[in-house]
Amino acid sequence: MTQELFERSLKVTPGGVHSPVRSFKGMGRAPIFFKSAQGASITDVQGNEYIDFCQSFGPLILGHRDKDVQVEINKAIDDVWTLGAADPYSLELAEWMVDNIEPLEKVRFVNSGTEAVMSALRLARGFTKRDKIVKFDGCYHGHVDSMLVKAGSGLADGTAASSSSGVTDNQAADTLVLPLGDETALIKLFENEAKNIAAVIIEPLPANFGLLPLELEFLKKLREITKQNDSLLIFDEVITGFRMALGGMAEITNITPDLVTYGKIIGGGFPVGAFGGRADIMDQTAPLGSVYQAGTLSANPISMRAGLATLKKAAKSDHYEVLNKRSADFANALRDLINKAGKNIKLVQEGSLIWLCPNAMDKEINSPADLPQDMQTQFKSLFSELLKQGIYIAPSGYEVMFMSHAHDDKIIETALLKFEIAFRNFKQ
Ligand SMILES: Cc1ncc(COP(=O)(O)O)c(C=O)c1O
Repeated sequence: MTQELFERSLKVTPGGVHSPVRSFKGMGRAPIFFKSAQGASITDVQGNEYIDFCQSFGPLILGHRDKDVQVEINKAIDDVWTLGAADPYSLELAEWMVDNIEPLEKVRFVNSGTEAVMSALRLARGFTKRDKIVKFDGCYHGHVDSMLVKAGSGLADGTAASSSSGVTDNQAADTLVLPLGDETALIKLFENEAKNIAAVIIEPLPANFGLLPLELEFLKKLREITKQNDSLLIFDEVITGFRMALGGMAEITNITPDLVTYGKIIGGGFPVGAFGGRADIMDQTAPLGSVYQAGTLSANPISMRAGLATLKKAAKSDHYEVLNKRSADFANALRDLINKAGKNIKLVQEGSLIWLCPNAMDKEINSPADLPQDMQTQFKSLFSELLKQGIYIAPSGYEVMFMSHAHDDKIIETALLKFEIAFRNFKQ
C-alpha cells in the first residue's frame, strides 16, 4: 500500500513528499506512510506499529497526543481557529516564556523555525545597520536563502558559496561560514570583518549533522567577541529550546545571547516559531520599529494553547531530570548492546537527543568533515534492520533520535530487545 501511495504522491508532489528527508532518499525504499500515533508509538497505513524515536523531529517532548495537551486543544478548537487579531492566548504564552527564560525580554511568534531565523537575521541587520551574518559549517538554520550556504574556496576568510540552486551569489556573499568550534578562525574573521558583522548565529548544541557538542569555552568566546565588536549573538534553539532544559542551551551554558530562535516544542506539535531576546533589539520590529515582519496565521490560537500546555507540563517538578536521566540510561544500554553485537557504531547522547553513527566508534567527530565517508550506506542497512523490528528513527544518518516523556521504562525495555536483534542482524 505504501508503494501505491508513494506512486500517487509522486504524480502531484515533488519527490512525493512535503519536506526532503521524508522521502527516505538514500534508504533504498519508498517512504512509509503513517496514519496515526499515540505516546511513543506510531502506526502506518497498513496498521504496523513502531516505537517512534523521531517524534516529528522534536516538537513532541511529551510524546504524541499527550492527554493533558489534547484537553487544551479540544477547548481551543471549540473557541476559535484563527483570529488575525490580538488575543489572550499568545499573550499568555509570551508572558510565560518571558517569565521563565532568562534571555527573553520580548518575543514574537511566527509559523516555523525557518521564519524565526529569517526574521531574527533581518532584525539583527536592521538593528546593527550591518550586512554580514556569520554561521558555522555543521549548523542548520532552516531554509532561509542566506543560510543555504557552504564554505567557499577560502574557508578561513569565511567566503560562502550557495548550497542550493535559487540562492543568488549576492545572498551567499552576505553570509560568512566558519568551521565549527574553530576559535582561531573566529578571531581572524573578526579582525578582518568586525565592522560588517551584524550577528553570529549558532546552534549551541549542533544537532543537524549528527550531534556535535561544542566546547563551552568556544561558546563563551563567541559571546565575548560579539559583545566586544557590537555584533549580536543569536542562539538557534529550534531543537534545543525547552528540550535540553527549560531554558535550553542558554540555561545550560549560562550564556545570554542577544536573540534566540525557537520552534518545534513551543507549538506542542502545531506549526510555530518564535524569535525573542533583548527588548531594545526586539522593539526595532514593526509596528514599533523599521524592521518589517508579519504573518496571517502567526500566533495561531491552537499552536499557542497546545504550546503553553506542553511547556507548563514539561516544566513541572523534575520532568527534565527524569527525561535526561532515562535517555542517558537508555544510551548506555544501547552502547552495551552495540558492544555485545560486536558492531562499530558510535553513539552520542546529550539530554534527550541520541545519535547513532555507524563506522565511527573510535573516531572523534567534531564537524561534518569528520563524518565517515560511507556513513549513509551503513546507516541505510541499520535503519532497515530497525524498521524490521518495529523501531522508527529518522530516515537519515545526519538526524538524531528524539526521546520523549512517553518513552517510559516499559517502552524502553521493549525497545532494547528490538535494538538488540537489529544490531545483531546489522551487516557492516
Ligand atoms: C536548529 C534549527 N533551526 C531551524 C530549523 C528550521 O525549522 P523549521 O523546520 O520549523 O522551519 C530547524 C529544523 O529542524 C532546526 O533544527
